[in-house]
Amino acid sequence: MYTDLKNKVAVVTGGSKGIGEAIAIRLGQERMSVVINYHSDEEGANEAVEKIEKNGGKAVAVQADIGDEEGAATLLNAALDNFGTLDLWVNNAGMENKASTHELSFDDWSKVMNVNLDGVFLGSKTALNQFLKEDKKGTIINMSSVHDKIPWPTFSHYAASKGGVKLFTESIALEYAHKGIRVNMISPGAINTAINAEKFEDEQAKQTTLNMIPMDYIGKPEEVSAAAAWLASSESSYVTGTTLYVDGGMTLYPSFEKGDG
Ligand code: BGC
Repeated sequence: MYTDLKNKVAVVTGGSKGIGEAIAIRLGQERMSVVINYHSDEEGANEAVEKIEKNGGKAVAVQADIGDEEGAATLLNAALDNFGTLDLWVNNAGMENKASTHELSFDDWSKVMNVNLDGVFLGSKTALNQFLKEDKKGTIINMSSVHDKIPWPTFSHYAASKGGVKLFTESIALEYAHKGIRVNMISPGAINTAINAEKFEDEQAKQTTLNMIPMDYIGKPEEVSAAAAWLASSESSYVTGTTLYVDGGMTLYPSFEKGDG
């Protein structure tokens, strides 16, 4: 437990399932009050709220499209109306779809960019303004991916968005460090969540992924939310602009395990 998180207020975008849900639940366990954003999965978001409340924590589920300015404002207002302030904003919502780049429609490219990159900008901007207004040393956590550094054929739009998140995060970390506002990233590898469910149902596809993970297993959402709790807490008080790769070693060039290059 990170006791300094108690009674602080967090917004988690895309908190109805997967890594976002695990982060929301973990922050609830840390006794933060949590605004759980969802886009279409109202049931998932309500379930996450119930899990937090069952544990004695506080949370509300709020529908919003984080890819537009209104959506980000809705989430901030939910934090202020329900809990009175804002201490942490987790830009977690993201999407991916597979397509050969020569066939990728501009519409699909734009959708991925809108959620994964515009959403991170809008969420960060909204949080920064509130922190500046309250003169608060708030924290932002941006969820990226190992694909902010590993190229990903047939997911070039996704990789481009995550590469964008990386330099955006580092830029604003530098821009607001003197205010005591910390901005960090978590870049997960292959994690057992709904986004990967279909892929991992196929044993061969699962094995191919496992071959890329030196630690030999698909990560658990809780292993990612543990990193988020640490980055949110004052235990990481001197950490800004950094990326925590939570990937079982996927970014360590795993093919070198079997050869000398
Ligand atoms: C993607 C997963 C993928 C993992 C490793 C993540 O960013 O969301 O679908 O399994 O990267 O390639």
